[in-house]
Amino acid sequence: MAGSKERGRVVALCGATGAVGEVLLRVLEERAFPVAELRPLASERSAGRSITFRGEDIRVGVARPEAFEGTDFVFFAATGELSRELAPEAARRGAIAIDKSGTWRLHEDVPLVIPEVNGEAVEKHRGIVASPNCTTTPFVMPLEALRRVAGAKSAVVTTLQAVSGAGLPGLEELEAQQSALQTGAPLPRPSTFAAQIANNVVPLCESVRDDGYTTEEAKLLFETRKILSLPALDVTMTCVRVPVPVGHSISALIETERPLSVEAARAALADFPGVELVDDPGSEVFPTPEMAAGSDHVFVGRVRKDQGSDRLWFWAVCDNLRKGAATNAVQIAEELMSRGLR
Ligand SMILES: NC(=O)c1ccc[n+]([C@@H]2O[C@H](COP(=O)([O-])OP(=O)(O)OC[C@H]3O[C@@H](n4cnc5c(N)ncnc54)[C@H](OP(=O)(O)O)[C@@H]3O)[C@@H](O)[C@H]2O)c1
Repeated sequence: MAGSKERGRVVALCGATGAVGEVLLRVLEERAFPVAELRPLASERSAGRSITFRGEDIRVGVARPEAFEGTDFVFFAATGELSRELAPEAARRGAIAIDKSGTWRLHEDVPLVIPEVNGEAVEKHRGIVASPNCTTTPFVMPLEALRRVAGAKSAVVTTLQAVSGAGLPGLEELEAQQSALQTGAPLPRPSTFAAQIANNVVPLCESVRDDGYTTEEAKLLFETRKILSLPALDVTMTCVRVPVPVGHSISALIETERPLSVEAARAALADFPGVELVDDPGSEVFPTPEMAAGSDHVFVGRVRKDQGSDRLWFWAVCDNLRKGAATNAVQIAEELMSRGLR
């Protein structure tokens, strides 16, 4: 982690008024990231508003290329379109763009990084580094823990994703529907999600592709393969939206290259940086999204063998706004600094 002796960096944040942007500000504070100057940016809608950073009110500017002059890092936590347009502008001005959107993740010149898994990949950056989708990170970290001891062949995954994964509009949609159900007011029509989310689960995140999978499911497959440098890894999945404010959950069945006992799997998970094993089923101890919310760890439990094969199940949860988004982005900047790349 960055220490207080670090040279101060000039940091811009596109999307400073959003769900991830707000958390990113708190993470920069908590980790004592060496910010010499902060430039919070958003669209025209929020320009002129203030955000608070280290007890100081700072006015939000408009995300435009000129705002990146003289910056060291530009965090993108806005929209994919904005990242497409402006991340190269940040890089052109000598900054390193750290992108939370899906735009650059699979681009061959852009490292896709979870520092605990493939931190060395930042060495190859050409001005843009991407941070994975919020479901990829809590899947890949425990998977990598198992892979390091027994290899990885395939995975069957179901995700249960919090509404804040769709940003502030997702949180607002759940709250508006819950309030209408309580008061008997007409239910607001779903707009962020494909169906009513209050008192419901929705087995469709984002949009459906021609192959029947959703764009969210495709991210899990292709991002996992890229981060682990396993282009043939077989991953199949269903991504589900649930009426939980914060905290994505994942149920995964993993086929390893070599058989792995439950005890050895638990030991590997417990040893992996950033993973916390919470697994005492006899005492009904297991991780939940409520436990993960506000933490930077990926919590893993329910480790057990498939009844008909050597495959292993695990259940993982993480705060989608923190390790799934903001914390990982800040850790990427720390990784770049620790390697003298900024
Ligand atoms: N939520 C998660 O769990 C999560 C996890 C991983 C990755 N991500 C990614 O992180 C990014 C931000 O997501 P979020 O959940 O924080 O969304 P959000 O709550 O909807 O916030 C969006 C932010 O982007 C800004 N913005 C929108 N259009 C803009 C434009 N044209 N120019 C400048 N700023 C603009 C908004 O500013 P205004 O106030 O001006 O509208 C707001 O600050 C997205 O790319 C998302 O895919 C999110």
